[in-house]
Amino acid sequence: MDNFLYYNPTKLIFGKGQLNALPEQVKQYGTKVLIVYGGGSIKRNGVYDNVVAKLAEINAEVFELAGVEPNPRISTVRKGVEICKQEGIDFLLAVGGGSTIDCTKAIAVGAKTDIDMWDIVTKKASATDALPFGTVLTLSATGSEMNSGSVITNWETNEKHGWGAAPYTYPKFSILDPVHTFSVPKDQTIYGIVDMMSHVLEHYFHQETNTLIQDRFCESILITVMETAPKLLEDLENYEYRETIMLAGTLALNNMLNMGFRGDWATHNLEHAVSAVHDIPHGGGLAILFPNWMKHVLDDSNVLRFKQLAERVFQVDAEGKTDREVAIEGINKLREFWNSIGAPSKLTDYDIDESTVELMAEKTVVANPAYGNFKKLTKQDSIEIFKASL
Ligand code: NZQ
Ligand code: ZN
Repeated sequence: MDNFLYYNPTKLIFGKGQLNALPEQVKQYGTKVLIVYGGGSIKRNGVYDNVVAKLAEINAEVFELAGVEPNPRISTVRKGVEICKQEGIDFLLAVGGGSTIDCTKAIAVGAKTDIDMWDIVTKKASATDALPFGTVLTLSATGSEMNSGSVITNWETNEKHGWGAAPYTYPKFSILDPVHTFSVPKDQTIYGIVDMMSHVLEHYFHQETNTLIQDRFCESILITVMETAPKLLEDLENYEYRETIMLAGTLALNNMLNMGFRGDWATHNLEHAVSAVHDIPHGGGLAILFPNWMKHVLDDSNVLRFKQLAERVFQVDAEGKTDREVAIEGINKLREFWNSIGAPSKLTDYDIDESTVELMAEKTVVANPAYGNFKKLTKQDSIEIFKASL
């Protein structure tokens, strides 16, 4: 492993009824609170009313930014920054999924600077401060509740970029009550499952040696998610299944799994390019792209990592087969699993055809002409992976 320094200051408050902890957590940061949320799911499932009631216990002055889009937009970030500056907001509370949390991270940083947030998202400028913020998670997928990353889209330029400004963009706390995810519909539940599995897989494909503990952590999360997902999809309000998936989603991307190495992340780069042009759900895009990335990069130098995944996670029997055959069988089993739970498998499932392949490939190299850490990829690789995904 590489040397590493692990630091994660987010307080994780997990379990049934944990919203009761909200007043105590918020009150140390001030009284003017901006609640940030999405298109209204929290109004329909009662979470909004419960959050407002909890904030009333500490006589908080509550402001609201509603309407954060899935794949949150820089225009919405700018609206939030404006409210913070005009009203002198002390604390931000994200109530929702990854999009709401990511938008809140950008607002928190934007509120403390005169630099336009797009310049910080695109790394032309750096963040030096942020308003404190917390989260009430309602959808298990991104891990944004316990990491410092955020992904923001600019519809004027068709760009979607990941950025982060640790330590400022770590939530002060995140409240994770599995009951808050009961109302997540089947399709979003599937996308979340694919996203968290993809985070584990992004970690898994690295070039570091002696990562025995990390490998087994990753494998155990993949196996557990694959055992739980089909049962959850038949029983969306089952507390124990939601609880297992919720913890898996957080652990998959709170950087505990990748202590001492850097994962690949090319598939996320590819997916962000697809979403930047076509605004599709992140997990849907990953389900299409990941097995095709795997087949594209598999070669003699890295086949043993794929073989290990195939044998340990997908129970492929290696007897009498070449390493490559075992590796390919594992990749096919991943595709079969995602198909079996109802995830999309082709870009054409979203009516994306060859006409935008060149444009999407261009977007994969805007930030970096050679991307991916397990294997460096170029625009030509992006074109080939997109074509294999049609
Ligand atoms: O907007 P509302 O009405 O709340 O509805 C949302 C939205 O339509 C709905 N939803 C959320 N909680 C619900 C619910 N519906 C019913 N009941 C509930 N309890 O689900 C829809 C999707 O929500 P969204 O927040 O967009 O989903 P997700 O959590 O998957 O976030 C996706 C975004 O996160 C980024 C993605 O690129 C994408 O922009 N990512 C962020 C990462 C990070 N910060 O670490 C890493 C990820 O790899 C990812 O890139
Ligand atoms: Zn993701």
